[in-house]
Amino acid sequence: MNTAAANPAHLVAATGISKSYSQVQALAPLDLTIHAGELVALAGPSGSGKTTLLYILGGVVQPDEGEIVIDGRPLRRMRPGKDLAALVGLVHQNYDLVPQLPVIQNVLAGMLGQWGLLRSAISLLWPRDRQRAEKVLAELGLADKVLERTSHLSGGEQQRVAIARLMVQSPRIVLADEPVSSLDPVLSEEILRLLTGIADSPGRTLVASLHSPNLIRRYFTRVIGLREGVLQFDMPSSGLTDDVLAQLYELNHRGELDRPGTGEAAAEVS
Ligand SMILES: Nc1ncnc2c1ncn2[C@@H]1O[C@H](COP(=O)(O)OP(=O)(O)O)[C@@H](O)[C@H]1O
Ligand SMILES: [Mg+2]
Repeated sequence: MNTAAANPAHLVAATGISKSYSQVQALAPLDLTIHAGELVALAGPSGSGKTTLLYILGGVVQPDEGEIVIDGRPLRRMRPGKDLAALVGLVHQNYDLVPQLPVIQNVLAGMLGQWGLLRSAISLLWPRDRQRAEKVLAELGLADKVLERTSHLSGGEQQRVAIARLMVQSPRIVLADEPVSSLDPVLSEEILRLLTGIADSPGRTLVASLHSPNLIRRYFTRVIGLREGVLQFDMPSSGLTDDVLAQLYELNHRGELDRPGTGEAAAEVS
């Protein structure tokens, strides 16, 4: 086994992970280690491999090659909905709630990982689970929405339901795919505060994709830049200048996005 992967100080140790879809290399071979306590932002233009990387780390997509070790154990040996759910929680870009169910049932699904709905319906019968879910919803200002049909809530409220589900699941590694991409600035801050709050206890970490340099600098400790599936930089978020990000996104001097380029265009700016 690779030495990085065997190091118990690493909460996540990925070695040589890569993924291609037919002709597209979604992720070039990548080594990545994350320590507990780190708050990691993933930046990069659309199609740069952010979702692919998050899904691989979450065990949702299998890499073509490479290995991921989480808290000393190989990810591929973990069972979805069981030991994997205790370690890793993934927030999808669309938040993935079931709109026709009551709020509380969507939240209880967090306890049961990927087995979700039927078992979450059953878990409504366990008062202890229910109390915990109701407590978290109350903390998020949703006490009066517990039994409301989820689709009746506003977008911002639904996002808090998804965060409540994650808080109930309480995984050590929170993976969030563009959690603030469709939110106004105030709501973006609130969601980031909640997400970093979940990760802000010993032994935990957050990895989230987002595009705002200000939010990255304020809420994250480390930033990883991806472009066309290739790692461009990995540094403390305090070092993320607007220039570095503009290069990553290939903004031209007028601040407009250049045509999505070839590898040569990327080489020109670097
Ligand atoms: N399931 C898939 N099937 C085919 N191509 C995919 C699939 N998922 C991602 N890709 C391709 O892989 C590349 C990286 O995608 P993705 O990880 O979604 O990037 P990002 O999240 O940064 O926008 C893109 O070119 C995308 O079209
Ligand atoms: Mg994506």
